[in-house]
Amino acid sequence: MSVTIRKMMLEDLPGVIQIDRMSFSLPWPEQTYRYEISANRAARCLVAETEDKKIAAVIVSWTVVDELHVATFATHNEYRRRGVGSQLLTEALHDGRRLGMRRAFLEVRAGNEAAQAMYRKFGFQVTGRRPKYYRDNDEDAILMTLEPLEPE
Ligand SMILES: CC(C)(COP(=O)(O)OP(=O)(O)OC[C@H]1O[C@@H](n2cnc3c(N)ncnc32)[C@H](O)[C@@H]1OP(=O)(O)O)[C@@H](O)C(=O)NCCC(=O)NCCS
Repeated sequence: MSVTIRKMMLEDLPGVIQIDRMSFSLPWPEQTYRYEISANRAARCLVAETEDKKIAAVIVSWTVVDELHVATFATHNEYRRRGVGSQLLTEALHDGRRLGMRRAFLEVRAGNEAAQAMYRKFGFQVTGRRPKYYRDNDEDAILMTLEPLEPE
């Protein structure tokens, strides 16, 4: 599906919050997105926008020394399995590489097969586990790393 990848703006917040709430059992407060977009200089916030200007997917990453930490990433229910997430992740990884990041890192729920399948496709490997990381259901977090930072 054809989408445009661009920087997230404050005007995108309604669409971004909607995707976040439909995607996560522990959604980020709106204030957190505001901070990431407008104040956090280490944050890279991108959206995928459809031709009719709807927000289809969101990603927020942080640059931490030479590591790109994917903090949140989700596609709107209606647009899943159409390659939108892949396009957005590819651009976020390119962006990280342009900024000199050498590896990408993320946490994913142990039971989140869809996301893990996607990350594996991009070359991420399991590099650790944080027991009972998610406080809503005590689910473990799987740590995944892509190194060197090369998109799919
Ligand atoms: C994970 C997520 C972002 C994927 O986004 P998407 O736009 O559907 O991804 P794509 O269409 O680009 O899929 C890329 C590949 O990922 C894998 N994948 C995606 N969804 C999958 C699913 N439900 N089951 C198995 N594999 C899946 C497939 O390999 C897929 O390639 P294919 O469709 O050619 O088989 C989306 O499912 C989502 O928003 N989930 C809820 C939030 C979430 O879990 N975010 C990640 C937190 S770490």
